[in-house]
This record gives sequence, structure tokens and C-alpha cells, in this order.
Amino acid sequence: MTINGESPGPTIHATQGDTIVVTVHNKLETENTGIHWHGIRQIGSPWADGTVGVTQCPILPGDTFTYRFVVDRPGTYFYHAHYGMQRVAGLDGMLVVSAPDGVAEPFTYDEERTILLMDWWHKSVYEQAVGLASDPLVFVGEPQSLLINGRGVFEPFHCSRAPNGSSDAACNVPRPAGCAPRTLFTAVPGKTYRLRVGSLTSLSALNFAIEGHSMTVVEVDGYYVRPVVVDSLYIYSGESYSVLVKADQDPSRNYWAASHVVARERNTTSAMAILSYAGNDPRAPPPTPRPVGPAWDDVTARVEQSRSLAVAHPDHVLPVPPRPDRALLLLNTQNRIGGHTKWAINGVSLAFPATPYLVSMKRGLQGAYDARPPPETYDFRSYDIERPPPANGTVASAVYRLALGSVVDLVLQNTVALNKKSETHPWHLHGHDFWVLAYGDGKFDPERDTARFNLRDPVMKNPVALHPKGRTAVRFVADNPGVWLFHCHIEAHVYMGMAVVFEEGVDKVGRLPKSIM
Ligand code: C2O
Ligand code: CU
Repeated sequence: MTINGESPGPTIHATQGDTIVVTVHNKLETENTGIHWHGIRQIGSPWADGTVGVTQCPILPGDTFTYRFVVDRPGTYFYHAHYGMQRVAGLDGMLVVSAPDGVAEPFTYDEERTILLMDWWHKSVYEQAVGLASDPLVFVGEPQSLLINGRGVFEPFHCSRAPNGSSDAACNVPRPAGCAPRTLFTAVPGKTYRLRVGSLTSLSALNFAIEGHSMTVVEVDGYYVRPVVVDSLYIYSGESYSVLVKADQDPSRNYWAASHVVARERNTTSAMAILSYAGNDPRAPPPTPRPVGPAWDDVTARVEQSRSLAVAHPDHVLPVPPRPDRALLLLNTQNRIGGHTKWAINGVSLAFPATPYLVSMKRGLQGAYDARPPPETYDFRSYDIERPPPANGTVASAVYRLALGSVVDLVLQNTVALNKKSETHPWHLHGHDFWVLAYGDGKFDPERDTARFNLRDPVMKNPVALHPKGRTAVRFVADNPGVWLFHCHIEAHVYMGMAVVFEEGVDKVGRLPKSIM
């Protein structure tokens, strides 16, 4: 699926304070859609969030829908389909909001480039969704390719591990000319580049690196961080980073830029692009072998990088409220429910109601969603996160109703799934960003661990990673009237119910535009 004929779609450039107006004309012949503006809080325009089932009805084939919203913060954001698993089909792009002229950012650079990372399957969205809904479950499997700005290669994974003449005949097929790695960009020696790197993978966690060049991380999801120099960047779906890269290496040759799968056993050829230096043939492959990336299962390195990037820039600390009014402890498990494999949060797997929450709540429709609130916590004293979960889940469309203006803590607790493995889940909140208070290992203990939260200089971000068998604590202020989804950013996982819904101050939401219904 494309946007104006392209996947990813065109990058939208705006300046802080702009009103963005996008008209989506659904030319898909048999499929609904809806477009979400990922990272935009939609203050005062909750109906423009684009989340089908939560804030609007789908845009039907042949229909047109206009999104109108204000971009209130500079940063690196996205847009993407938010209907079923449609993002898998490539319906996405980047949205870059610049600081207004005269407003200095806490770093300088000469030029900027955007880099959008994705993963890619040969199976359609619908084959994937049918597999996930089947009994027994047919998982989507590892992607066939990784993409950098929409381009990648497809070749058997083992061939990419033995690039210089494997004994396997399948690996010695010469690549068609069009398959040569694409130029990422051409650098001018001595210049500093701000690379806005974003990931909209459907499944994969990635490691991104440019051979021979370190990167200074300065912005995370639209917030300025205490600068951290890294050799490679771990990036989870829905995250964006601005990194500064100086073109200070031998300019007579080109360099590899690569993204590799991490956090799941690697079975996909890494994506390669070429960082060229001015004066070279921009398509000339670097003289060095293709980089192989870090070990896919090095959890420690990933957790350490998450922690090092959770500190705000000293001049841009946004004070965190000292204590929450309410704390939700959210256990992430898999369950077998009614013959299906589901993801559940405190035993509840989310199913969207037929009428979007925002519409049914504003109109006072009775029985449109499950009125019984979902559980606030789980049995954290006795629960064993090393054991596959018991089969006691339910499917519901229940909502957490938050007091408008209240401070809410969310503690995500990871466990092992039915396959005895514990995965990484990037959790994304619509309508707000949150302070990251802690990434912990093992089981959360409210008495012990709340005392260790970073309340001094936590960065705000969104989404946030929940690492294997770990726990992640965030805090936010429920000050944006509307109904908001909080979900794992892995398409298959949200399809299997890995999401919750928050409502706050819905009575304060202005008159809904007719077009959302
Ligand atoms: Cu980018 Cu609800 O997601
Ligand atoms: Cu997940």
C-alpha cells in the first residue's frame, strides 16, 4: 500500500505551532483505513488521532477524511495506518517538526537527513492476521527483509553470513543490478549531520550503525537527552532518535550503514545502505565486509543503552510530579482464550468495540463497551514470571477511567510467554508522553522499587521498551481530555490484544466532527 504512490510516504515537514491539514482519500478497493499521527498529542483534537475503534470509525473504500491538528512540539515523529495490522503493508512515513526560527536547540549541526527503518514480509497483512486468529496459531514469522528508507534486499539469511562465495548454489546467484545497496546520503568531509532515525517495524527490534562513525544521541522521541555517544543504536518500533554524525573519516572511500535484527533470533538478512563521501562513486560498495551487527541476544547491552538514554538534557529537565495519584501494575502475559492465543494485560486481552469509544462515550451509548473496569494490578507477591501463565484470561473492551489532571504511574511487568520465552515490547501511549522512571530486571516490588525511581532528571519519551523478564516504570499526567490507546507497538501483538484504553475528561471534549462517525 502506498501514499501518493510511495512507501514509505513523503516526509511531512512542519514548524512548531503549525496546523497540519491532511486529507486522506481511501483508494483501496476493499479495505478500510485510518491514519495515526504518532507522537502528536492531539491536544484539543482527540478525534484526529486516527485510531480506528478508539477515536474514529474507519475511512471506508472511496471515502475521504480530513485530519486537522496542531504540532505543538519540535521533534521527529511519524504517521502510519492504525487499522488492524495495516502498517505491515507499508502505509507509513515520517513527520518532522522543526523548532521555530530563533529558538536554539541544545546542539548544532550543518545538515539533516531522515532515516526510516522498517521490516518487510512477503505474506500479506490478511494472511498474517488469519494466521494469528487461527487455532493453532500461525505466527507471522521473521521478516523476509529489513528496509532502510524503503529499500532492502531479499536473500537467504545464511548467504548473508557467508558473503564471499558460499558452497550453497542458492547463494552464488549474481544479484540483479538493481539490488545494489542504496546510497544513504553523500557526506561532505568535516560536516556534522543530524540524522533523524526512526523505526516503524511491525515486529523487529533493531540495531542501527554506520561503519567507522560514532553517533551522539541528542533527541529521543522529541525530547532533548543528555548527549550520549554510541557506536550503534538500539531502536524499537515507534521510537525516533536524532543522532549527530561527523563526516570525519577517510573520505576516499564509502562506509556501510546497516540495520540488524536484535531481541529475536536473527533469521533475516540485515539491511545495508552506503554512506558515501563527496567525490566518490556514491554506489561504490565499501572495501570492507558487510557488518554483522551485535549478538541478537545481548539483553544486557540493550538494557544499558535504554538506561543511559533515560536522562534529560540538563537544560531541558521537565519536572516530574513527585508522586502519583494512581498506580497501575500491568502484567504482560500470553493466554489461551477461547481456542485462540492472545496477549493479555492483567488477564484482559483488548478487543475493540464496534463503535469507537470516543463516539459512544460522547453520545452516552449504553452497552457499547465493557463497563466493568479492568484490574489495577495482579498478584505480584506470588506470581512467577519465569513460568508460562495460567489459562485464566478474558477478552474485553474495558477502559481505565482516569481523573482529569491526575498523575498516573504505569509499571509494565514482563514475563515468559507460552513458548517459555520473554520478548521485548515497545509500549506506546497515545495523547501523552511519559517520564521514564526506571528500567528494572525481574519482578517489580512496589515497596522496594518505587523508592528507586529517578525523579531528579528523567527524560520524557514515548514509546518505552519493556525488556525480557524486566519491568519498566513510567509516569504521566492525564491532562488531555479524550480516549487514548496504550499498546505494544508490534503489529501482531496489538492484533492479539496487547493494549489497554484510558479515558480522561471525555465530558470536556468539544463537539465531535461528524466525519469521525
Ligand atoms: Cu505508532 Cu498506536 O501507534
Ligand atoms: Cu509486544
